Amino acid sequence: MVEYKLLNKDRYSRARLGKLQTRRGVIDTPIFMPVGTNATVKGIWQHQLEEMGAQIILGNAFHLYLKPGLEVMREFGGLHAFMNWEKPILTDSGGFQVFSIKDKKVTDEGVLFRSPIDGSKIMMTPELSMEIQMTLGSDIAMAFDECVAPGMSREYAEESVTRTTEWAKRCISYHDRSQALFGIVQGAFYKDLRKKSAAEITSMDFDGFAIGGLSVGEPFQVTKEILEYTVDLLPEDKPRYLMGIGSPDLIVTAVENGIDMFDCVLPTRIGRHGTALTWNGKINLKAAKFKYSKDPIDEECRCRVCQTYSRGYIQHLFSRDEMLGKILVSYHNIHFLLKFTERIREALATDSFKEFKEECYNRGLIKEA
Ligand code: GUN
Ligand code: ZN
Repeated sequence: MVEYKLLNKDRYSRARLGKLQTRRGVIDTPIFMPVGTNATVKGIWQHQLEEMGAQIILGNAFHLYLKPGLEVMREFGGLHAFMNWEKPILTDSGGFQVFSIKDKKVTDEGVLFRSPIDGSKIMMTPELSMEIQMTLGSDIAMAFDECVAPGMSREYAEESVTRTTEWAKRCISYHDRSQALFGIVQGAFYKDLRKKSAAEITSMDFDGFAIGGLSVGEPFQVTKEILEYTVDLLPEDKPRYLMGIGSPDLIVTAVENGIDMFDCVLPTRIGRHGTALTWNGKINLKAAKFKYSKDPIDEECRCRVCQTYSRGYIQHLFSRDEMLGKILVSYHNIHFLLKFTERIREALATDSFKEFKEECYNRGLIKEA
């Protein structure tokens, strides 16, 4: 259902340039995937995602099951038709979203919780997650996993790795392979558990492998260490996906460790609060110092927002709490991350990733050279 093709390898790190063939076309990797949880990348029209060069977006089984629900999805013939997006979609299984719910009961069967929308009882199981994702018709589905909260005991983490493996088996036996299916490696911050999880998950017939349970509040160095350790346990001939990261420093760290795909709500989430990513670091456009500025958000950015509007205008929109402010900064931020990963691919294609990294360091975008 998907095929990974290696195009070039970096000489100084495990970074790799590749292509991922999906049934809806080819994706250039490494790739940033904007998140469209509720069948919308918040504030952005689908044609704008295309004009920015987005190649694949994320949807969410958990949210879309709650609303609009499977009946609506069947009526529309899936998520692509529903939201009018023809390029690839990857759906997350709900494994992460269910675990951010406070009142829930995790058993080997699945996760029992109350709908945050109407309070009804829902039992999310590997089978239901597969059913939802097959109905959504995404191009890549994710196995239903358990992402443990940071600070959980080793004992719990171990139990959870076993459960994630059992759930992965159930995902594989229920899934009809009408879409690609990726497995997710868990194991919290314990290397031996990561090893156990990776061995078990990669022994199964998945089309690609994700690393879950990272970027859940731990320090950067911890993310880096577990990532470095875990990537080595994944096969080279399949795509590798690091779930839930999207800041420039983590993107560089992910790429230099051989990660091909990543997603994050960061550009739209911080954008709604007026924070813009720029080639010289983050700025907050709510700051009064921008009131009279006729400069664009980022002098070096070629996005539509930076060609059209000033920092001063956007500062004003935020001071009046006008929705256009949030939309403009979200647009710029997604454009920035798509460009940032495009520059990474260019660097990998021209054997200059090391130089790109040095440039990022000099610009203050990453902490280590
Ligand atoms: N998104 C970010 N982290 C995770 C994870 O561990 N599991 C899943 N399913 N989604 C995620
Ligand atoms: Zn811009």
